[in-house]
Amino acid sequence: MTGFPLHRPRRLRTTPAVRRLVAETRLHPAQLILPAFVREGISEPVPISSMPGVVQHTRDTLRKAAVEAAEAGIGGIMLFGVPAVQDAVGSEGTNPDGILQQAIRDVVAEVGDRLVVMSDLCLDEFTDHGHCGVLAPDGSVDNDATLERYAEMAVVQADAGVHMVGPSGMMDGQIGVVREALDGAGHQDVAVLAYTAKYASGFFGPFREAVGSSLKGDRKSYQQDPANAREALRELELDLAEGADLVMVKPAMAYLDILRQVADASPVPVAAYQVSGEYAMVEAAAANGWIERERVIMETLTSIQRAGAEQILTYWAVEAARTLRQQ
Ligand code: PBG
Repeated sequence: MTGFPLHRPRRLRTTPAVRRLVAETRLHPAQLILPAFVREGISEPVPISSMPGVVQHTRDTLRKAAVEAAEAGIGGIMLFGVPAVQDAVGSEGTNPDGILQQAIRDVVAEVGDRLVVMSDLCLDEFTDHGHCGVLAPDGSVDNDATLERYAEMAVVQADAGVHMVGPSGMMDGQIGVVREALDGAGHQDVAVLAYTAKYASGFFGPFREAVGSSLKGDRKSYQQDPANAREALRELELDLAEGADLVMVKPAMAYLDILRQVADASPVPVAAYQVSGEYAMVEAAAANGWIERERVIMETLTSIQRAGAEQILTYWAVEAARTLRQQ
């Protein structure tokens, strides 16, 4: 022994060319999905203060944002509707002329041939109590009554032309009910992106402002406990059995271990949602000059992909796609 290292892993890190050659993880714009908010009854976009750079769109600016997204080459857009009126059962969620359905029609007409158009299938944007379902007389979220509302929502969204629905309410049986409702209405080709492992997370904070949620309390009786990994695999099994086409883990960065486990076990594509609080943290630190903004954004997306996500929902989708194009 000379005392010098026999093995020198640094050899593969010496130049940009060799690093590029051996990179295991490569992001592509096609795998990015932009979540977008559209609000009823506004004539100008409304900035979301806790998500600098993100707005509640008017129907018109949403159309423009969708075109921009298509031109950036991203893979899809996930639409969230913010209705003018909320009520106990979230009626606007099943109104064929409700804001989300209008937005679906607008975006499909504009870029439906270039982007996969997706919609959030959940009641929290539409209910005046802010829960993801309807309430039982005792105030708890009524799982099975909510499923009936989801079935209706799925058909109304599919009638509006959506390509993929994203049931995000974490009700038991939601994927099966949605699949059956879509098939029963002749929408066999509308896919289901299942929010499979969705945690009761503080990282959703800014989103509540984004959709004008009136939630008091929390979602711990239906979203998963951050302490648990095993139930994510049970949810995966159930969602697959009920007909999920894609499965998703959410949030992303604090749940990379869950993402890895789900990716290892899933026979269908696995997506991850980099949520509002993840976006807000990076933007806030960057605004203070504490981190390098673009570098950190790309590092977060790379980490999420490395952990097993093939599709990534991120509010930076368009910007990241442009960055990737320049590389
Ligand atoms: C439910 C839904 C939520 C998010 C996406 N779909 C909010 C929640 O469950 O409280 C959060 C997304 C984000 O924080 O970016 N409709």
